[in-house]
Amino acid sequence: MRILFNSTSIEKVRTGLLIIPVAAETSKKSASGAKKKKGAGGEWARFEQGAKPWLKKADALSQNFLSQQAKNGDFTPQPGKRLEIASPLRDARIKNFRLSSISSSSSISDDILNEWRRLGGDAARSAKRLNTAELAVLVAHLKKDIFEQAAAAIVEGAILANYEFTKFKGTGAKKAEKKPIGKLSLTFLADARISQAAKQSIAESSVIAESACFARDLVNTPPSDLLPVALVKHAREIVKKRRGLSVKIYDKSALGKLKAFALLGVSRGSSSDPYLIHLRYLPRKRTKKTKVVTLIGKGITFDSGGLSLKTGKGMEDMKCDMAGAACVLSVIRAMSLLPSASQLEHEVHVLIPTAENMVSGPSVKPGDVLRAMNGKTIEVLNTDAEGRLILADALCFSQRIPSDYIVDLATLTGACVVALGSEYAGLFVNNSDFEKLLQRAFGTAGEKVWPLPLASEYRGEMESQIADLRNIGTGGPGAILGALFLKEFVPANVPWAHLDIAGPAFVTKGNEYIHRGGTGFGVRSLLNLLRAL
Ligand code: BES
Ligand code: ZN
Ligand code: ZN
Repeated sequence: MRILFNSTSIEKVRTGLLIIPVAAETSKKSASGAKKKKGAGGEWARFEQGAKPWLKKADALSQNFLSQQAKNGDFTPQPGKRLEIASPLRDARIKNFRLSSISSSSSISDDILNEWRRLGGDAARSAKRLNTAELAVLVAHLKKDIFEQAAAAIVEGAILANYEFTKFKGTGAKKAEKKPIGKLSLTFLADARISQAAKQSIAESSVIAESACFARDLVNTPPSDLLPVALVKHAREIVKKRRGLSVKIYDKSALGKLKAFALLGVSRGSSSDPYLIHLRYLPRKRTKKTKVVTLIGKGITFDSGGLSLKTGKGMEDMKCDMAGAACVLSVIRAMSLLPSASQLEHEVHVLIPTAENMVSGPSVKPGDVLRAMNGKTIEVLNTDAEGRLILADALCFSQRIPSDYIVDLATLTGACVVALGSEYAGLFVNNSDFEKLLQRAFGTAGEKVWPLPLASEYRGEMESQIADLRNIGTGGPGAILGALFLKEFVPANVPWAHLDIAGPAFVTKGNEYIHRGGTGFGVRSLLNLLRAL
């Protein structure tokens, strides 16, 4: 899908749907504790008392329907409230009006950004319902810096909400299901000077949101259509002709030479070969601020559990076990696509260990011992704890890169889903300054993370009788044990973060701008992080 932006004035706009954000009271109670009257508060009150010119014009175009709504209290500007009305005129330039509440605030917070994102998502969905490809948002009243951020969030919400995965719909599908919206035009009704200033942030946010959709496509693709070699193909495709990017692929024989026997061991039951993909982004110019960041993503293209087989139900969504890989691949792709004025000056490495966890004669067996690249031996007592095995080799490999920061993302444990559900990823960090940066980056993107401890008290759970460590505990806190296992392979003294994204990577119940299926979790946040470093 393509989004076209422009700006114009309310006198000139032609649109299928005009969205009018109305400032809402954030608290329902007034200072005295009494409940506010319907229709009170923010711009809405001013609307009733003598509206601002832009609101007056919109009202006139609606044949005073908007002010009528205000007077008889059919619409109250409260968070989450909205009202849609069709134009009473037959040949109207604005076919539909939509009042959407937005918390009134003089500055932008993470919550308010999310409200704008929701407004954008809501707009895109309404466009589809109303069968229009032309949307307009009235933002004439916003200050320049607020408008820049709000516009970017609206665009992000619209692109994310407009996403559909229709590639595998067949002849049985309804027409509307098969046909994704090709292009959506989004017009901002704002001062031309302000719109110009917001152009860059809009261009940036559309690349970023499109990249999250690219990750969703990868995650949603059926597992037999996305084998490890398909990730290799995507990596090669991404690098093609793009400035700053390069890729090196380690195939089965190269992995043997590297002594990456943990990754090789996991893939043994599959007829598809494993790979280690190494992508690199070199910035156009280096400055004192240039950092080296390594991003690692778990790339199990299907997790059957191996001989420690999952249940039928437990396997249903296991095509999502490469969501970490999809995320980091999309991040580096976005870096090369960002408009030149927004190019990032960091060196970024992406490592993707990829394999299929399957069952057959040669499968790794419970009780087997595998040797990781750094020589550490691992007793595999449960073949379903395979993510940590392939990540162990990727982390060992990362020793070769002089990283300032390492982040890994993995759909690692069901235990993390039990602890935090599908809204929050578990965040493990070995450095408190880095943790703050990550919290900021995820918060701004509206992607939720919750800190969990790298509690060394539980390290004893992974003692093995015959090897250096075992791949599961004897019970204990599953998500923490997964993180502690990875820690054993992290290069010394490097700030490192592990995100257990088993919950939010793939959801059955979406939100206003991301529906069910792959979510692209982490893409927008990691790009925020790279922009903030
Ligand atoms: N890929 C799964 C984790 C997972 C579960 C991802 C649910 C997404 C949704 C992982 O490989 C796994 O199976 N982990 C085991 C570890 C256990 C054997 C220690 C688990 O969580 O049960
Ligand atoms: Zn597993
Ligand atoms: Zn897995």
